[in-house]
Amino acid sequence: MDSHECAVLKLFLVGVLANVWIMGGLSADDGFSTEPTTPQPKKLCNESWLQWEVEVCGEDFKRDMARIDPQHWCNLSHFISEYNIFTLCTETRSHILHCYWPNSLVETYIIHIHKHFFSNCTLEQVVWVDPPEETLTILILIPVFLTMAMIALVVWCSKRSDNFA
Ligand SMILES: *[C@@H]1O[C@H](CO)[C@@H](O)[C@H](O)[C@H]1NC(C)=O
Ligand SMILES: *[C@@H]1O[C@H](CO)[C@@H](O)[C@H](O)[C@H]1NC(C)=O
Ligand SMILES: *[C@@H]1O[C@H](CO)[C@@H](O)[C@H](O)[C@H]1NC(C)=O
Repeated sequence: MDSHECAVLKLFLVGVLANVWIMGGLSADDGFSTEPTTPQPKKLCNESWLQWEVEVCGEDFKRDMARIDPQHWCNLSHFISEYNIFTLCTETRSHILHCYWPNSLVETYIIHIHKHFFSNCTLEQVVWVDPPEETLTILILIPVFLTMAMIALVVWCSKRSDNFA
């Protein structure tokens, strides 16, 4: 491969990376994972009220969990529906009170709930279903591989042109 082909390949890779970057910007707008799901709230979020409502959701969840044998507390399949109801509860209350969801207040409370129920669970025992891990892994790995490929190509190309010089 001569240095002209190298330049073309570099250009191609830059194009691909630009594409990935643009796609990344687009998917961020889709509300992927931690992005707010609501448009700009018109009214201000009443945080003290939200705190209270989220604790109500939490109390419901604690009551549901109390019905489940603690030895199953690390097995998501035993309480997935209760957990989904709890998550949905925090989401709807946030929307009603014109707050983003998820927000730091809700996240802090969910961490508190996790510490309460799942502090003794090992990672192998708990398999969180949200977000889907395969999708997440692929989304993370694609840009990583593209970046590595580009660095390798640039290094290889510059070595080649050194040889020609
Ligand atoms: C927020 O909600 C509380 C009730 O929990 C209310 O007393 C307070 O006036 C509200 N604050 C605002 C700014 O709306
Ligand atoms: C979790 O519970 C389900 C249903 O009872 C069971 O099939 C599964 O083997 C359990 N998983 C673990 C890791 O204990
Ligand atoms: C975790 O383990 C500690 C010590 O064995 C125990 O006191 C605590 O109740 C356990 N917590 C849960 C949520 O099972």
